[in-house]
Amino acid sequence: MRSANQKRGTLYGIGVGPGDPELLTLKAARLLERIPVIFAASSSANEYSIAFEIIKEYVSDKRVERLPFPMTRDKEILEREWRSNALKVIEVLDQGKDAGFVTLGDPLTYSTFGYLLKTIRRIVPDVHVETVPGITSYHAAASRLNMVLAEAHETLLIVPGTEGAKTVRKAMESSDNVVILKVYRRFPEILEAVNKADACWQGAMISRCCLDGETIHLDLETLEGGTRPEYLSLMIVKRESGEGA
Ligand SMILES: C[S@@+](CC[C@H](N)C(=O)[O-])C[C@H]1O[C@@H](n2cnc3c(N)ncnc32)[C@H](O)[C@@H]1O
Repeated sequence: MRSANQKRGTLYGIGVGPGDPELLTLKAARLLERIPVIFAASSSANEYSIAFEIIKEYVSDKRVERLPFPMTRDKEILEREWRSNALKVIEVLDQGKDAGFVTLGDPLTYSTFGYLLKTIRRIVPDVHVETVPGITSYHAAASRLNMVLAEAHETLLIVPGTEGAKTVRKAMESSDNVVILKVYRRFPEILEAVNKADACWQGAMISRCCLDGETIHLDLETLEGGTRPEYLSLMIVKRESGEGA
């Protein structure tokens, strides 16, 4: 509990990028060295350990605490867990210490930081927060592919694959370029939706971008829908402009 004259610490949401420690920003690295308590989501076995691998050289002398974010859609369970995680962070802030929450990619893009932030703000509305942007998975993927995400008059949509083919079809109907995150769970129908679109589309899938075991598929038509890719996989699909290279 915070005493009346004790200043509460600041919560830092820190994006650690897609996997390559060299893609951590200088600001993130500096904060990780300074902040006494660091938290990371353990929503999937991978996410915690990958975030930890990325930051380990900056946090050698301190513990990185796991916050379990359950992979369920049950609202009651989710709210209970988010509240319990929020209270752990608030306890640190109330001791006058700064706390960092690290997430893969960017903290405000499909990230557990959004849920944590909302829950903490409900309990402590005046909490002081600073967010440090991170290089997203799809910016890193576009770089690995040397692929332009969007240019000139083109539009770009970022969508989750969690609802399957219908989101993907809708996105491809309304945008020139589409990034599909979280393709792993409903992969067969997403791949089918992409491949059944007309021939004016080209795309790529990348798994474990910037990490050991990275794989890149440039020809989606030859991919096997029956083999589920791993959690860290995304697709980028582009409407061909018809202009020469
Ligand atoms: C919860 S979202 C996290 C997005 C992250 N905040 C960002 O800014 O990229 C998880 C999804 O991001 C994508 N992702 C994250 N890191 C990745 C990587 N290194 N390689 C490929 N996809 C990745 C995958 O689609 C994965 O299912």
